[in-house]
Amino acid sequence: MSLSQNHAIDVARVIPLKPSPEECALLRASLLRPMPEIPPRYFYDDPGSELFERITDLSVYYQTRTEIGILERWAPTIIEAANPRHIVELGSGAGRKIRLIFDAWGDRRRGGRCTMLDINELFLRQSIERLESDYPGCQYRGVVGDFTRDLDRLGPAGQRLILFFAGTIGNLYPEERQIFLSGLAATMPPGDAFLVGVDLVKDKVRLEAAYNDPEGVTAEFNRNILAVVNRRFDANFVPDHFRHRAFYDSVNDWIEMRLTADRAMVVHLGALSMDLSFAEGSEIRTEISCKFTRQSLAATAAGADLAIDGWYTDPEELFALALLRKREG
Ligand code: AVI
Repeated sequence: MSLSQNHAIDVARVIPLKPSPEECALLRASLLRPMPEIPPRYFYDDPGSELFERITDLSVYYQTRTEIGILERWAPTIIEAANPRHIVELGSGAGRKIRLIFDAWGDRRRGGRCTMLDINELFLRQSIERLESDYPGCQYRGVVGDFTRDLDRLGPAGQRLILFFAGTIGNLYPEERQIFLSGLAATMPPGDAFLVGVDLVKDKVRLEAAYNDPEGVTAEFNRNILAVVNRRFDANFVPDHFRHRAFYDSVNDWIEMRLTADRAMVVHLGALSMDLSFAEGSEIRTEISCKFTRQSLAATAAGADLAIDGWYTDPEELFALALLRKREG
């Protein structure tokens, strides 16, 4: 743990420069599935994170501005309902939305705590430093970690408001989501509240448009995952030989992103000592993005012993913030 200014940074997870044998085994298993997959965590190198920031500004990508609008309208109500002494943000990234929560928290933050967890140490340090200078009087702590594995490091429970924005929970498969929610619920006494952002089920045309922008930013973001795999696993994917495809799967209520080979090819992955053959038109799944209804979120929460205590949405019901608490009894 190192001390800088007034806050502590707790490094739970350093990403090693070279992939470990376990990481190689995981990628190998993902690529050898009947539908080959690359885990979406490989989207977020520095260029990938910048591309994601550009996505959030696209006119077709309504999620970010809608979630900000909901926070602008409902943050004071959320603060009244949760009455926090400790605010925690999971996957804090650039740390912009938490400011709307802080504005509503006002002077009640004095003597309180704020813990931010993110995998990217640079983003984490920058957002804590900015928050600390704009909202003094609170004890700040950063945890460099992974929200699926480091939930035991979030600090004092009892009157926590735990934030998980952007609809990122939708990027977990239903089984992974259940494990994440159950793990989080296990750390939550009755006084804690969990505020989670979810994209809502809606018209398929609107959903598909959000992942097929005419500027091609999402396509670039999708193909960038191959450049990340090339660097990390000594592979020779040619990103330009793959087409971006995103479609809504209405059976699973998720958007699926894939990369489609535009020709037959063999790709070598040095770190896995593996050659992968692609036929023209064969695909790799790179992401799912689950969409929810209030009912489906209530059902998934109930599976983790959590219940919806507050539901905040926009007039068009595009996106929602749900306040979850441990179920009584
Ligand atoms: C980070 N996550 C919530 C985004 C989503 O919409 O699922 C990632 C994304 N993928 C393509 N566009 C945005």
